[in-house]
Amino acid sequence: ETVEWEAASYDMGGHDTYMHKEISEQADAVDRVLRGRIDDKFSTVHLGGLNLDAREARGIRRVKILGCGTSYHAGMIGAGLIEGMARIPADAEPASEFRYRNPVVDPDTLYIAVSQSGETYDVLAAVQELKRKGARVLGVVNVVGSAIAREADGGVYVHAGPEVCVVSTKCFTNTVVAFALLALHLGRIRDLSVADGKRIIEGLRRLPDQISEILKLEDEIKELAAEYAGAKSMMFIGRVRGYPVALEASLKLKEISYIHAEAYPASELKHGPLALIEPALPTVAIVPNDSLLEKNRAALEEIKARSGRILAVAHQEQEKADHTIVVPKNEDELDPILMGIPLQLFAYHTALAMGRDIDKPRNLAKSVTVE
Ligand code: G6P
Repeated sequence: ETVEWEAASYDMGGHDTYMHKEISEQADAVDRVLRGRIDDKFSTVHLGGLNLDAREARGIRRVKILGCGTSYHAGMIGAGLIEGMARIPADAEPASEFRYRNPVVDPDTLYIAVSQSGETYDVLAAVQELKRKGARVLGVVNVVGSAIAREADGGVYVHAGPEVCVVSTKCFTNTVVAFALLALHLGRIRDLSVADGKRIIEGLRRLPDQISEILKLEDEIKELAAEYAGAKSMMFIGRVRGYPVALEASLKLKEISYIHAEAYPASELKHGPLALIEPALPTVAIVPNDSLLEKNRAALEEIKARSGRILAVAHQEQEKADHTIVVPKNEDELDPILMGIPLQLFAYHTALAMGRDIDKPRNLAKSVTVE
């Protein structure tokens, strides 16, 4: 099973940039990561390359996910999915930080390295160090046969297809879906019920159409981007599942528009960043219709009370927001996959309005294969 491509001969297919092409391909990409893996009979998924049997899966006490940049953010969402569905304590950490703090390597921990390219040096070095210490390491990787895929004991291919733009979009989405599959697989071996398994599978199957619906909002998002393109700085907030979405959206904006942006858990606003809120500092808020809706609305009120402008990504119009991008609702667990997509377009159109070189932002490389 190999997917091969040559970046140079990879055609833009009528789009002006690779980034736009890659954003537009996400419904098909998600379809690919799901294909052939769902088992309706047992409401689970099969992951051929995992190399982890049921007994081993039941023995995992902890999951540690390692990655850099966008892959680290995908790993944060992945940790939430694994903890939620498989009830295994899980967290994500930048691979470089992990590597330099001389971590305790524990035989009951499953380590997962996340990488689009499979070549990022800090991730590869973390995998090698872990393997040297006898740990079990899986890869969640896009490029088949890459260095990290080869070093890992097993893993899940992300099947996003070639990603040429320096900043990652479709691979982020597919990586999160790959984590949902892994979480469902581990969950069904452990304590996730058949009914919940079925519910998640149905949610996964709805994703491609829902992504297509979100992509139809492009004109609306383009207009919004034109309004925000003059901002010097922007704040992104979210809570629990929404927080990594906020982090990734803020990274996307900085990478290609060079607007300063930061992301905070909405609950941390009152511990500092509220001091920054004023009309010139707009906030993008992730506001899903889940058990935290009222908490998130309270944060919008706090911002409004300080005359901050708010752009919400939500499942229904938010009264306190100046603009709401309304996205389709999925299962609570899978909502983060969809909520980031309009913000990819938002970053894209903001950068475009500012005349940036979108596919090759200054000072950045697609893969960082040196220390
Ligand atoms: C570079 C790229 C980022 C990417 C990161 C990790 O910094 O500019 O877009 O997220 O590397 O890359 P990887 O290939 O390991 O996912």
